[in-house]
Amino acid sequence: MLDAARIRADFPLLERQEHGRRLVYLDNAATTQKPEAVLTAIADYYRTTNANVHRGAYDLAIRATEAYEAARVTLATFVHAWAPEGVVFTRGTTEALNLVAGSYGRANVRAGDTVVVTAMDHHSNLVPWQMLCQEKGATLRMVEITEDGRLDLADFGRALERRPKIVAFPYVSNSLGTVNPAAALAKLVHAVGGVVVVDGAQSTPHLKVDVQELDCDFYALSGHKMLGPMGSGALVAKPGPTSRGRWVSPPRSPTSSACAPSGSRSTSGRSPRPRLTSSPRSTVSRSTVRATTGRVSCRSPTATSTRTTSPPSSTRTASAFAPGTTAPSR
Ligand SMILES: Cc1ncc(COP(=O)(O)O)c(C=O)c1O
Repeated sequence: MLDAARIRADFPLLERQEHGRRLVYLDNAATTQKPEAVLTAIADYYRTTNANVHRGAYDLAIRATEAYEAARVTLATFVHAWAPEGVVFTRGTTEALNLVAGSYGRANVRAGDTVVVTAMDHHSNLVPWQMLCQEKGATLRMVEITEDGRLDLADFGRALERRPKIVAFPYVSNSLGTVNPAAALAKLVHAVGGVVVVDGAQSTPHLKVDVQELDCDFYALSGHKMLGPMGSGALVAKPGPTSRGRWVSPPRSPTSSACAPSGSRSTSGRSPRPRLTSSPRSTVSRSTVRATTGRVSCRSPTATSTRTTSPPSSTRTASAFAPGTTAPSR
């Protein structure tokens, strides 16, 4: 049986009193409190390991880089990602979704295309697509929900008749608790040539997530909603056909990726100093996300539908749509 008192004891903040009473915290869907084990791990890192990752060639920086990359492998294993290189750390789900919209979306959606979202999506999975459609002159199609709070599958089918470039939906709805049949939906989307973006903010903390089983193309999640530090999250991406199903990996060793030999002898006669390069793994991953193209062939819309917005082309600049700049959380 669930031992609430023992679980509660893991969270130092819950020992606090608020308004003269023991604190009760129920807003875990927004962000969780942090257990002692996480607080200790964060403090230990700063006490023993902290340095700028992928930037230094000295032992401390190498250990920090190794710890950072180990976290990427842990997360990749946790959701059964295709490869650790397909995991891009972000500040949360909102930033992860903005990253897909601003990279893959911006590179692939054109005027006349359709992007599909659902009426049960969180703002974070609506606003980036709305802005992308405005910018590109594409159509945003919102799939309805049924009276009992499920995705209207008939309407989903109608939306797919438009052969959308991108279909975004939540695995679990934050407002309704609905668990969508994500793998089945992804199959339907792929059958019409679309790319699937899954908002995993609420599913990752509560379900056993296997992104390869879901067969989505992008999966966004929040670390801070599952006991991790505030400002943690990730975008998990599937390798595209252009990479023949494999990620192009940057060098594995932190020393080789962060520090290249200068190649020239020092005129002072001292041994050559290593040249620091700026090739953080996250930069590589972000550009690789952009390379995940070519999956969808461009087809013109074939059907009209209700509840469709076709905003005009916008004059929005690229900087106005930088990843992480839109959509409030919850
Ligand atoms: C379904 C869903 N998507 C996205 C978000 C935003 O997540 P984050 O705060 O990590 O940006 C939330 C937050 O509650 C959510 O419930």
